[in-house]
Amino acid sequence: MLTSSVQNLLLSSRQYTPSIKRKYRINSLEEYESKWKESVENPEAFWSKEAKKHMSWAKDFHTVFSQGKSSFEWFLGGELNLSYNCLDRHLERKSEKIALIWEDEKGNSKKFTFSELHKEVCQMASVLKSFYLKPKDVVTIYLSTSPELVISMLACARIGVVHNVVFAGFSPESLGARIKASSSKLVITSDGFYRREKFIPLKATVDEAFQKYSLKSSVLVFDRKAEKISLKTGRDFLVSDFPSMKLEDESLDFFSSEHPLFLMYTSGSTGVPKGLLHTSAGYLLGALLTSYYLFNLTDEDLFWCTADIGWITGHSYIVYGPLSLGTSIFLYEGGLQTPDPGRLWRLIEKYKITKLHTAPTAIRLCRQAGDKWVKKYDLSSLELLGSVGESINQKTWEWYFDVVGGGQCPILDTWWQTETGSTMLSAFPGLAPFKPGCASRPFFGVLPKVVGSSGHPLLNTKGSLILEHPVPSMARTIYQDHARYEKEYWPEGFLNYKTGDAALQDEDGEIWIHGRTDDVINVSGHRLSTMEIESFLSANELIAEASCVSIEDSLTGQALCCFVILRESTCEKNAEGIKSLISNYISSSLGSFAKPKKIFLLKSLPKTRSGKILRRTLRTLAEGKKPEGDLSTLEDATIFESIL
Ligand code: WTA
Repeated sequence: MLTSSVQNLLLSSRQYTPSIKRKYRINSLEEYESKWKESVENPEAFWSKEAKKHMSWAKDFHTVFSQGKSSFEWFLGGELNLSYNCLDRHLERKSEKIALIWEDEKGNSKKFTFSELHKEVCQMASVLKSFYLKPKDVVTIYLSTSPELVISMLACARIGVVHNVVFAGFSPESLGARIKASSSKLVITSDGFYRREKFIPLKATVDEAFQKYSLKSSVLVFDRKAEKISLKTGRDFLVSDFPSMKLEDESLDFFSSEHPLFLMYTSGSTGVPKGLLHTSAGYLLGALLTSYYLFNLTDEDLFWCTADIGWITGHSYIVYGPLSLGTSIFLYEGGLQTPDPGRLWRLIEKYKITKLHTAPTAIRLCRQAGDKWVKKYDLSSLELLGSVGESINQKTWEWYFDVVGGGQCPILDTWWQTETGSTMLSAFPGLAPFKPGCASRPFFGVLPKVVGSSGHPLLNTKGSLILEHPVPSMARTIYQDHARYEKEYWPEGFLNYKTGDAALQDEDGEIWIHGRTDDVINVSGHRLSTMEIESFLSANELIAEASCVSIEDSLTGQALCCFVILRESTCEKNAEGIKSLISNYISSSLGSFAKPKKIFLLKSLPKTRSGKILRRTLRTLAEGKKPEGDLSTLEDATIFESIL
């Protein structure tokens, strides 16, 4: 069965080829196919060659890949420092080149050359050392998308400390749970920042998290002079109170390839978020090579990835990928539509951004605001566009191509996951014509397959997406839960990595993503677990039981819909008041991005006789329709009358 997007495409005779032909690192299908074939036929030779060519090693690796019963490793015997790879090695040729330009919502801006950024990172590394942190200790970072965040991450990497960046939109509850679960010795934060003209108080949120979870770590605060900071003696310290170090005193350590680099907590199909652990060399190679072959980053680029650094996209395509290639990055802190929907385009004009990587939700919002906001600005500096995090539908893709790119820029629809560390599927810029909304081809070394329930390969039919072999950038474990890692991703040993996504491979071998096959939903590119939300809801004293599903949303891709059964004692008369209480409860428990679009208050949930909630019927109900088909397994089929 063909999906509607594939059908639309077949019906449309339009060829999506940029009108300007530029040269890329891969320029023809033949070139791509031959390199891809080489990369999957002899993966060790491929990865070894690329790792030696693009990365700086203090000690060469002797074994490219090794696999045991419960783990796999890349580049054994090798030693390196990721901060050195992102900074020091560029100093000889690029010390005065811009590494980072930052602007906040109020229009304040800062610029750092590679030499200045290097100095800041070394200084921060010396501050971190005063906390007696040892390699492999974990530090949680709760900061906005700012130079301080980039500096803190690279300072951790410099001394072999594992960073655990928590998205600055998370609530005290979610933050506290992540600090605790990661056994963080230190938390780095700032007073706060402005987003959509609202002050986001980071330090106060940290204080609340510490109180809620009785945490004992130290807290290190960047004073950005946005708000008065209250410091708890003996626990809280200001970065600015530490003495400046002399650069010549700096000693640089090197770490093994598999040294842990960072944790990233993300939602899975159970109620407990999982801390995916990424290690050093393989992760860097994935972020670097995809930046090199897909985004074709060069010394001439100013690359803007609009993701928040608190998510994996920000880690790989703001920090590690571009900086390891010595490419200048642009950072923006604040709402993309603040003070008006022209903000994004004005920034591109002002800074002459050459390549833009953003999320479908942001594109949909801009499209909704109207072409006039885009047309007001000169976007002729743009050469390439990227999309990441969720499916981009055909109309949005076309608008991105025509209105933003002026028909001159390739669009890379990139598919990957927190778990894979770097892009696994993407269109390649030199391989036009493009198929709108298609994640296209595997990156080098990646062997994707779409399979049916018994594991047989499917063509032109929707199935489960798997990746046949481990690639270097994949997460190595779930922190303190290796059994869950193996069970969830590698149920057959280190063969056939389970992505949890559904997909369709078309006759050209190109892959279309069809969303999750589990209970993870994707709201504006934020991963949420329905189980996690359900467990928060059930913990509320007003609520007896709850079930959550996703519904389609023209702006956010998917939206959250909750079905709630109240406790008997709860007054049901004020239904609207209770709904708004529940809505606020979810956003304060998880963060405002998790606010439900719809809440239904019910007397009971549609359950089978064995007690299993029939989610498919809830989905239909959420769309305002009456569930049809076989409902004979339901305990009480009349329940729908009362719901509708
Ligand atoms: C979804 C974000 C369609 C997918 C990098 C995946 C996509 C999940 C795309 C991972 C895309 C990501 N088209 N869906 N181009 N990219 N996804 O871990 O369901 O935040 O499994 O990583 O986002 O989300 P995560």
